[in-house]
Amino acid sequence: MSNKYKIALIKGDGIGPEIVNEAVKVLDAIASVENISFEYNEYLMGGCAVDVFDNPLPADTITGALNSDAVLFGAIGGPKYDSLPSEKRPETGLLKLRKSLNAFANIRPAVIFDELTAASTLKEEVIKGVNLVVVRELTGGIYFGEPREKKEDVAYNTMIYTKDEIKRIAKVAFDQAMKRDKKVTSVDKANVLEVSKLWREVVEEIAKDYPEVSLEHMYVDNAAMQLIRNPKQFDVILTGNIFGDILSDAASMVVGSIGLLPSSSIGGKVGLYEPIHGSAPDIAGQGIANPIATIMSASMMLRDLGEVKAANRIDDAIKAVLKEGYRTHDLANFDAKEVVSTEEMGSLIAEYATK
Ligand code: IPM
Ligand code: MN
Repeated sequence: MSNKYKIALIKGDGIGPEIVNEAVKVLDAIASVENISFEYNEYLMGGCAVDVFDNPLPADTITGALNSDAVLFGAIGGPKYDSLPSEKRPETGLLKLRKSLNAFANIRPAVIFDELTAASTLKEEVIKGVNLVVVRELTGGIYFGEPREKKEDVAYNTMIYTKDEIKRIAKVAFDQAMKRDKKVTSVDKANVLEVSKLWREVVEEIAKDYPEVSLEHMYVDNAAMQLIRNPKQFDVILTGNIFGDILSDAASMVVGSIGLLPSSSIGGKVGLYEPIHGSAPDIAGQGIANPIATIMSASMMLRDLGEVKAANRIDDAIKAVLKEGYRTHDLANFDAKEVVSTEEMGSLIAEYATK
């Protein structure tokens, strides 16, 4: 009997469909050599769902996601939808999906590929060996806080965290640290914000349960600077929703391309797996998007499903393909022996993953 997984595919907008298709190609290749199989069901979310249902997150998509073993998602959004009221915006669909899945922990690893050290705008000696993970709280903070309102002359949002919300995300970060270099950097703005003061207290409390893990606190402005100055000092960065959003984009540039950062959003029964980048409408449909972040997200998905060998196959295949000198357009200038399309990159990784 093979392990069969029901995967909800949410391709989304812009480059979303192209990159998810390549991840599916790789998953299917894996299924042909490992004892696993996949049943895919496609659902709409984002601008494409607004076009059809006038709703960025149709009920069907929520039900479908909740009734699957995992959700693999591409990207959403585009200029066409930018002037819509906030409840109709594609981003609102994604935020609601994260909330519906109770995916409160967003894990964003930033690991440098040796082959791509030249792709970073930072010096090679600064970034060689970077291996960090941002653990971002995903279903609270200023993204969701009430009250929120935009009036004619004034607008406001609320950054709010309960003790329980901080506890559960801190635990995820410390658990990650136990599997890694046993260091947590908790990022906040405790010199200004009350919510950050509580954040610090609760993180300190959780740290007591992990005597082997060293904990430091860092203000978010300093953390942004340190990420660029000396990213190797970080192991696990634990932070809230908006700080994590910002710092993970910065971390992606440390490792060379935003097309290389995968993520998992976990905490509920069903995990959500997506690249951290957006829908890049300016390059959609041209076959030049980098599918690697999405393929790596599929690998994170397999690992969480317990399919470690299959996940390793994907990770090794990506490394091998990059080592051979294949590059998508975003990385064309960096030791490329051959510049390949989105589809070609997917096929290469699929081929190497079955070796
Ligand atoms: C991300 C994105 C989203 C976020 C947007 C699209 C709502 O930037 O996943 O990082 O801010 O969380
Ligand atoms: Mn972001």
